[in-house]
Order: sequence, then C-alpha cells, then structure tokens
Amino acid sequence: MENKEIKEQICVLLDQRLAGVPERKACVVTYGCQMNACDSEKLAAVLRELGFVLTEEARAADLVIFNTCCVRDHAEKRVYGNVGALRKIKEASGGRMIIGVCGCMMQQKGVAEHIRTRYPFVDMVFGTHNLHEFASILLAALESERTFVDVREKEDGCVHEMPAERKSLSTAYVTIMQGCNNFCTYCVVPYVRGRERSRETERVLDEIRGVAATGCREIMLLGQNVNSYGKDLGGGVNFAALLRQADRIKGIERIRFMTSHPKDLSDELLETMAAGRHICRQLHLPVQSGSDRILKKMNRGYTRADYLTIIEKARRLMPEAGLSTDIIVGFPGETEDDFAATESLLAEVRYTNAFLFKYSPRRGTPAAAMPDQIPEEVKQERHARVMALQNAVTAEVNARLIGRELPVLAESVSKKNDRMLSGRTDSGILVNFSADGVEPGTIVPVRITGATVSALRGERV
Ligand code: 5AD
Ligand code: SF4
Repeated sequence: MENKEIKEQICVLLDQRLAGVPERKACVVTYGCQMNACDSEKLAAVLRELGFVLTEEARAADLVIFNTCCVRDHAEKRVYGNVGALRKIKEASGGRMIIGVCGCMMQQKGVAEHIRTRYPFVDMVFGTHNLHEFASILLAALESERTFVDVREKEDGCVHEMPAERKSLSTAYVTIMQGCNNFCTYCVVPYVRGRERSRETERVLDEIRGVAATGCREIMLLGQNVNSYGKDLGGGVNFAALLRQADRIKGIERIRFMTSHPKDLSDELLETMAAGRHICRQLHLPVQSGSDRILKKMNRGYTRADYLTIIEKARRLMPEAGLSTDIIVGFPGETEDDFAATESLLAEVRYTNAFLFKYSPRRGTPAAAMPDQIPEEVKQERHARVMALQNAVTAEVNARLIGRELPVLAESVSKKNDRMLSGRTDSGILVNFSADGVEPGTIVPVRITGATVSALRGERV
C-alpha cells in the first residue's frame, strides 16, 4: 500500500462504518479480459492488507468492487444490472455496504457521471490509470458523503508495481505492457487503456522471480499487444528477447502469453518459442475476419495470405502447437461472401479454440459510424453458424489426442470429487483427469481417454 498513514486512517473509518461486523468480507467482481483479472488481483491484495477476507459472493460482502469492461455492449449491460442489484442490499445493510466501480468502462466519456447520478449509492468510481492509488481513493470515498469520482486521462504512476493477491496457485499473471496503438476501427481499447507502455524488463523479470519463489510454476505474460513489447523502451529489447530471459528463470516451468497481433509477430518470436525450454507451444493469434476487404476496413494491417503465412510457419516450427483466435462476425458491410471467407479460414486453419464475437458498435470508434451496419438477426445467425463449425473442428482436434500421454499442469481440484483435477496441456487445452494426491501446481503425465468440445478427459499415468 502507498503509505502506512493512509492505511491507519482507512482502518479507523472502517471501524466506524463496519462496527460490529465480526469478519469483514470483500468481493472484487471482474468483467472482461485477463488484464482486468490481473488488476483485480492487485485490488484484492490491498483489501487483504486492510483486513478483509475475500469472497466470491457480492451480496454477502461488506465491500464490493466491480472491475468493468467495455469491449462489447453485453459486458456493459451486465455491469449496470449487477450494480443496480446491490441497491436494495445496501439499503438493507443500513447503508453500510461500500461499493466501488472501476476499470475500462469508467474511462469512457460520461460513464462516471452516469453512475454518480443514476447510482448514487455507489461510494467510489475510478479508472484504469489510477488503480495504484486505490487506497487513497477508498479513503476519500469513506470520508465523502457523495460518490467519490477520480478518473484520469493518463497514468501518472506505475499500476504494474503493485503486489497481487493471486487467485490461482498454478498460474500467475504478469503484465508486461499496457495500452494499444493499433486503433482497429471496432475497438475501444486504445481509447480507454491509452497508448502502449512497456514495463522495464528488469521489473518484469523481478516479478517472475518473485512468482517462482512462491512455488508457482506457470506465468502468463499479459499485454494488449505483446509483440510490440519494448518498442517504447529503447535499448533494443523486444518480446522475443524478454521471453528468452524469462525462460532462464529457475522454477518457472511454463510460460504463456497473450495477446499477439499478427501484424507485429516476428519470425524471431516463433523461433524463440520453438527453441524455448519452458515456453508453451500455444499461440493466441486473433484474425478477426477471413476477408481481406473486411480486414482492411478493420484497419488490421495484414491480409488473409499474410496471416496464413504466419500460421504455416508456426506449424512448421511447432507441429503440435495449440492455435487459437478471435473472430468478429457482422462487422459493418460484411457480406455473405466475406462471412464465407471467415468460415473457410476457420476450416483451413483448424484452431484448437476460437473466441467468436458478434460485432458490437462502440461509441466513438470509426466502425460505429460506418454505413451498412448488420442487423442483429444476421449477426446472430452468422454467429451460430461459425459456432457450429468451430465446435465440430475443436471436437475433432481434441479427439485426435485420445490415447496420447501428455504432461499436464494441475490447476485445481474438482469441488465435487477430490480425486478429479483439472489442468492444461502445454498447448493450452483443458484436461479433467483423475489422480490421487496430486497437488495443484505440479506437472504430471496424463493419458488422454476421452474428448469433448470443451475439454479432454484423462487419467494420471
Ligand atoms: N465488437 C465485438 N468484438 C470485439 N472485440 C473487440 N472489440 C469488439 C467489438 N466492438 C473482440 C476482438 C478482440 C477481442 C478481445 O474482443 O475479437 O480480439
Ligand atoms: Fe483493440 Fe486492435 Fe488494439 Fe487489440 S490490437 S486492443 S483489437 S485496437
């Protein structure tokens, strides 16, 4: 936490506000991507330091923070619904409950004001650029009669350099960069997360060493566009070089990363992955569309052929690599032919997994103002079609692994049956397997005995 004095002042105010509560509970509700999940772990660490016990159940908590996402409309609607649902619960607590709303949505024009006027029972609103000042924000909110709002245009400290209360014992998120310079025409991220800022290499490596010291074996390096890591640092460091250094850290057995932009993906990166000792052969490479016409309108900076060349190289160097992607259907002006090109790309690449989204117009982005917006029914229908196609591919890709023996990092024990664990293969596929006495965080050989669209089944060898 920033300083001891702030902590003491918060504790005094919390003692007043939550007097008589035997065990103070806090809940951080996360929407959206891993970057948000990583930020939530930082908020959770502050709350823990303040004496809160963390819970997953917002309704039962004395303090609730909603860490929001605005990439698609659906996530935004859920936030408003879920914040609204706490009004009655807060009233029933005699106004004692403390509610905060933060994250990407708050960085959008007018949203903080909307919360302040429509949801006046919210205690604090803050954005992505001042997450590291959470303790001071909480203090100000506890002192304020009205909703305390602090949303900044720019970052003025380092959000990454906060300890995290890591949720998973087996995988630790490590942020390597923030923001995005690409301005894909559909995307709101560059507006709410700002320009690309890489974190100093030594700081990243220090954090990874710290993770290794806790016994955690897997790290996930995070950034909106990890392939441009280092461009803003000077000194010639790039993402491949960072990976090579991380690969040498003792105790780390698996290194994953996301997200890669095809435009910035170098041969050096693929070669580094193939040669790495602990770098997982898993590549999440969002293509968004299989049509050159749409890719151009999206401002993605590559063609279908460019993209397929990368996939071919990746497969040549790492035949067993797990490849996944993001697809948007129903982008403005998408014709049946454009859509068919996306379908044919999915059939050609045969991804292990694909995240399929219906285009959602975002206020202030160029695509939202483009003519020929696609009607909802058409988006819905195309979405169902790609979903059926990809499910069939995933089921086939998974079924081919039946009979194989693969190393799996055990992530968690099933809640229903403590002989069942779940974990992931090196290529990133989920495996539910039976084993006695395996602790989460260990890598064990698993024979694959069955496969569905969502996961593999297996048993420990
Ligand atoms: N509508 C639908 N999907 C979107 N994504 C980003 N912006 C939008 C939008 N406006 C998807 C992209 C991206 C993923 C994280 O979310 O596929 O890769
Ligand atoms: Fe959004 Fe494109 Fe940046 Fe990804 S690369 S965060 S899709 S603008």
